[in-house]
Amino acid sequence: MEYRSRATAAERLATDCLIVTVFAKKKLDDTTAALDGVAGGAVAAALRSGDFSGESEEMLMLYETAGVKAKRLLLLGLGPRKEFAPGALGGALAKAVKRLDESGSREAALLLPAALEEERQLYEAAKACVIRAEEALYRFDRCKSEKQRPSRPLRRLTFVAAERKATPPLERGIAHGKAVADGMSLARDLANLPGNVCTPTYLAEEAKKLGRRFDKLKVSALTEKQMERLGMGALLSVSRGSRQPARLIVAEYRGGRANARPVVLVGKGLTFDAGGISLKPSANMDEMKYDMCGGASVLGTLLACAELELPINLVGIVPASENLPDGDANKPGDIVTSMAGLTIEILNTDAEGRLILCDALTYAGRYKPAAVIDIATLTGACVVALGHHLSGLLGNDDDLIDEILAAGEAAGDRAWHLPMGKEYQKQLESPFADLANIGGKWAGTITAACFLSRFTEKYQWAHLDIAGTAWKSGGKEKGATGRPVPLLTEFLIRRCKLAP
Ligand code: BES
Ligand code: MN
Ligand code: ZN
Repeated sequence: MEYRSRATAAERLATDCLIVTVFAKKKLDDTTAALDGVAGGAVAAALRSGDFSGESEEMLMLYETAGVKAKRLLLLGLGPRKEFAPGALGGALAKAVKRLDESGSREAALLLPAALEEERQLYEAAKACVIRAEEALYRFDRCKSEKQRPSRPLRRLTFVAAERKATPPLERGIAHGKAVADGMSLARDLANLPGNVCTPTYLAEEAKKLGRRFDKLKVSALTEKQMERLGMGALLSVSRGSRQPARLIVAEYRGGRANARPVVLVGKGLTFDAGGISLKPSANMDEMKYDMCGGASVLGTLLACAELELPINLVGIVPASENLPDGDANKPGDIVTSMAGLTIEILNTDAEGRLILCDALTYAGRYKPAAVIDIATLTGACVVALGHHLSGLLGNDDDLIDEILAAGEAAGDRAWHLPMGKEYQKQLESPFADLANIGGKWAGTITAACFLSRFTEKYQWAHLDIAGTAWKSGGKEKGATGRPVPLLTEFLIRRCKLAP
């Protein structure tokens, strides 16, 4: 969809639908009150009638309202004013946009409430609106013969402000929001594709396609032979059980000074995780096509970054492989040697993510990174701990952790810091190798991060466990979420000091 901003008198705007926001149980916001004045008190009448009360995400459509040029007025509830934050406008707008897309409006305008005054608030509101609207309109029907698309889809949304000085922050919010939304859509598309289509090779080809779209983005993918020469014995041990060859995707975005140290994002790209010889139970195993969501979020973030031409150097590394049972697959008790030289006893072949990530994290060290963030659907334990709401966050640098937490908060894509330490590291001891690939029953998310930490000692590092946040299970809602592209892009925008 297309987004614009305009400073104008809302009643004079010829539009299919003017969306008017209403707070619950309070006198009308100044902007809404002014409009209601010229509209003959239609909003106040709706509230008096009891048909509409301004509860969060509530909607009421009014037709042919006198005094306004718009064909329809859509009253949109924002809930109690005291609890309102600029980002929350996005959630309500998404509901409205979805409804308009499925009815007769080709374009619409959103009258911004007077509660949004400061530059920062306008920026955040516009950004959240674009992200949430695009998220709501997203469809994945590539594998359906009959695409059920609305006959008259919504094409354009205009943000309407009273004053001209509101338009620059709105425009910046729109641009940033569109980039994040595009990154999320790419991540969602790649993740929703089935494992027989989205193989490591396919993922590498898609990454290269992305590279061809931007001058500042160079993408290559190491082959198994090249990885062998680098000594990536842990990564290759996982792909040995699969007929699909592994790839190590390396994407370099150069937007910063030539000698500026890059941020490196490393994303788990397990295009299907059956568990290997430690085979998973069959219920819901199809969802393990989502085990490449970390890798997809890295590619999505690169897209957002390249679209915005952020003045930063960014490297994306995606180890891509399948994990299947096979006569040549890893067996419990096998010992492999990682690129870092550490030997690993594989006690459970289903703890494969850390095996492919550890070699990718060692490879990341080549870039003398300013910071490394890895993103992985790493542990079922993280879903037990945090459910589907927050991502797990662990790392070796408290400043980096705080920076990521703040970015997640601002982007509405939150993470929660979990501890690490010697007690947990001890759980990874092996009688036969330098370390084991599992740490026993308890604190599975933490011991997984402890495993990774042994390969990240040379730089500032954080790990996002997105096992609970990367996709939604079950019925109609099932699908990839595009998280944590919003968090990661916000992190980069803030590093570039580009948010007001
Ligand atoms: N990809 C899974 C983690 C996962 C499971 C994510 C379910 C989302 C939902 C990972 O490779 C895995 O299998 N982890 C094991 C680790 C265990 C063997 C130590 C797990 O969480 O059970
Ligand atoms: Mn696994
Ligand atoms: Zn996995």
